[in-house]
Amino acid sequence: MASVNSNYNNLKQNYLFYEVGQRAKKYSGQNPDKKVIKLGIGDVTLPLAPVVVEAMKKAADDMSKAETFKGYGPEQGYGFLKDAIAGYYARRGVRLSTDEIFVSDGAKSDLGNILDIFGKDNRVLIPDPVYPVYVDTNTMDGRDISFVDANIENGFLPLPQEGMKADIIYLCSPDNPTGAAYNKEQLKKWVDFANAQSAVILFDAAYEAFVADENLPHSIFEIDGARTCAIEFCSLSKTAGFTGTRCGYTVVPNELEADGVKLNKLWLRRQTTKFNGVSYIVQRGAEAVFSDEGIRQTRENIDYYRRNARVITDALDRLGIWYCGGLNSPYIWLRCPNDMKSWDFFDYLLSEANVVGTPGEGFGRCGEGFFRLTSFSDYDSTREAMSRIEALLK
Ligand code: MLT
Repeated sequence: MASVNSNYNNLKQNYLFYEVGQRAKKYSGQNPDKKVIKLGIGDVTLPLAPVVVEAMKKAADDMSKAETFKGYGPEQGYGFLKDAIAGYYARRGVRLSTDEIFVSDGAKSDLGNILDIFGKDNRVLIPDPVYPVYVDTNTMDGRDISFVDANIENGFLPLPQEGMKADIIYLCSPDNPTGAAYNKEQLKKWVDFANAQSAVILFDAAYEAFVADENLPHSIFEIDGARTCAIEFCSLSKTAGFTGTRCGYTVVPNELEADGVKLNKLWLRRQTTKFNGVSYIVQRGAEAVFSDEGIRQTRENIDYYRRNARVITDALDRLGIWYCGGLNSPYIWLRCPNDMKSWDFFDYLLSEANVVGTPGEGFGRCGEGFFRLTSFSDYDSTREAMSRIEALLK
């Protein structure tokens, strides 16, 4: 008789963003006359940049002719895209060899899939609150998870502490959900800690393109020592509006080893077995993101979202509500007014202002009493949502 993975019994009933979506859908179904504005899941609203669309059209054309048609591509990505990604890192002085870059269908998939190459007995350390994928995927495997608290006192940027033990450490910077971003000195502390413990940092850089402060790092590989302790995950979802198009990349340095085994080789083995690569058309579009014109056009879109973030933070300033994020991140993390609990505030905003956000408790115990708004909506909806919120809370 087939049996199931009983670790699934230890998960919350629903994935956070599915739960938020279901509740919003139920409310809209019961209140069809209300115009609900969604500032919940971090999904982009601007279309792909023109240079990306042109590259994809040309690639579609390539697929129509026998001479340029492509069948299976390399599982780890076409050379043209890996060269473009290596060039993007080189702009900040990070040298990568192309065999360290693995193109994927997004950071979320790789952050879950990478666990295939790690033993189930690894001790996992995860900041709280956190992007729920890290916790859920390790829970599915039955790994032992401990948490390091992120809170107002440490600026939602926890650091290694005396006596902490870990084999796998998750870090996300700029952080989802809080929008806080580590500086180089802080990241160096994590790198030194990981190297001292022979631990591996799984570094989620999905929001690096939102870093506005030029002193902040975009990649963990800007930190000395990271090549022997870190894997970096990145995605074009937020950088270039690829949430529906799907393309990301994972960097596994050749020096990185666990149990005397090179993790790059193990990940290559895993990917060549279980993954058949991202479509040629999408990879050509992704290549265009890293061209000078692609960088210029996608940065214009990011500036548009930054303007939305300012609409949100200006309204919170007027209301006197505590928040962080929004400067180097598309997310604004705020304290629920009047000591409300996160899900109560979610219900209150939905029913009274018809605005959907994400309850902080969904990101972990330390998120209770907090709430996340995203700047990825369109400008007019963001303004409308914030004027409703101001009218409700003032
Ligand atoms: C979020 O809202 O946290 C993100 O959109 C989720 C994701 O990127 O998977």
